Amino acid sequence: MIYLAPMQGLTEITFRKAYYKVFGLSGIDMAISPFISLTHGTLANAYKKIKDVLPEYNAQSLPLIPQILGNEIPQFIEMANRLGEIGYDEVNWNMGCPVTKVAHKKRGSGLLPYPDMVDNILSKVLPNVSTRISLKIRLGYYSPDEVFNLVSVFNRYPLASVVIHPRIGLQMYEGDLFLDVFAKAIADIKHKIIFNGDIFSVADYAEIQRLFPTMSDVMIGRGAVLNPLLPLEIKGQTVCNYNKSYVEFVNTLFDEINARNVPDLSKLRKIKEYWQYFAQNFDLSDEDRREVLLSEDLCDTQRMIIEILSKADRISSPKL
Ligand SMILES: Cc1cc2nc3c(=O)[nH]c(=O)nc-3n(C[C@H](O)[C@H](O)[C@H](O)COP(=O)(O)O)c2cc1C
Repeated sequence: MIYLAPMQGLTEITFRKAYYKVFGLSGIDMAISPFISLTHGTLANAYKKIKDVLPEYNAQSLPLIPQILGNEIPQFIEMANRLGEIGYDEVNWNMGCPVTKVAHKKRGSGLLPYPDMVDNILSKVLPNVSTRISLKIRLGYYSPDEVFNLVSVFNRYPLASVVIHPRIGLQMYEGDLFLDVFAKAIADIKHKIIFNGDIFSVADYAEIQRLFPTMSDVMIGRGAVLNPLLPLEIKGQTVCNYNKSYVEFVNTLFDEINARNVPDLSKLRKIKEYWQYFAQNFDLSDEDRREVLLSEDLCDTQRMIIEILSKADRISSPKL
């Protein structure tokens, strides 16, 4: 299975809907939502965040597993049960967010050095929630070896799956993946494992398949925003006219963004955020890149992006 990674501000409902409209389920099989933080206090305050996963907005979209971030046991239980009530049978717990101010409060990847705390949270949450719980982790926060103290904790509970991004929190999204540590850890974890990290091309995917031949589940984040056709290509689907299909997706994404009830300036910012990714997938002149970034008009910016992407050559092995 191919999972779409949660990416705050990027793989939210607009992206998932546009993706589903254009490609259906021929590439991505399942998405995990960007995190809903438990520190938003009451559920009413968290509404803005929950909105992204409300079934009424997600009806014509990719199948979804909502994700939560935090270490507060009562709020975790309340949120998981609320998500269960609105129809979800699985909630993903974020133990991978590397942002310093999150991690320093023992949230996200900041939980990884504390197996007893993870154990305590799972032991109190699991018997009291109606949904299954899956995890999204890194190998550690300070050191990749932290994962070895977590394995026995994970194996004590009936987890739905464990998504592993084989970096540590301190690396953020850069630097080498610890694939040797990943290999050792997954040999001992008894749950379904989903590999996540640095899949930007079919060749990257093939290399993960070669290294871990029994691994059938991967999660793709930046690679799928940069090249929304990548999941289809990985599945061996024929893409007859690459630029046409790419542009069809981008136009649909723009339609979804334009339909949002937010000021034009927010729409423009959002489109430029996506542009930073799209632009990495094509061989573009500095002038083309700059022209889009300097544009201040919403419609002009969209027109420019479509014109550029319609005729640009793609890069065969894009990297971020
Ligand atoms: C801008 C951005 C936002 C992200 N937001 C989340 C998030 O909300 N929850 C989460 O678990 N991971 C989040 N991630 C991490 C991704 O899910 C993924 O683990 C990471 O990008 C590595 O996978 P990739 O190399 O396929 O992109 C985010 C990453 C980026 C770059």
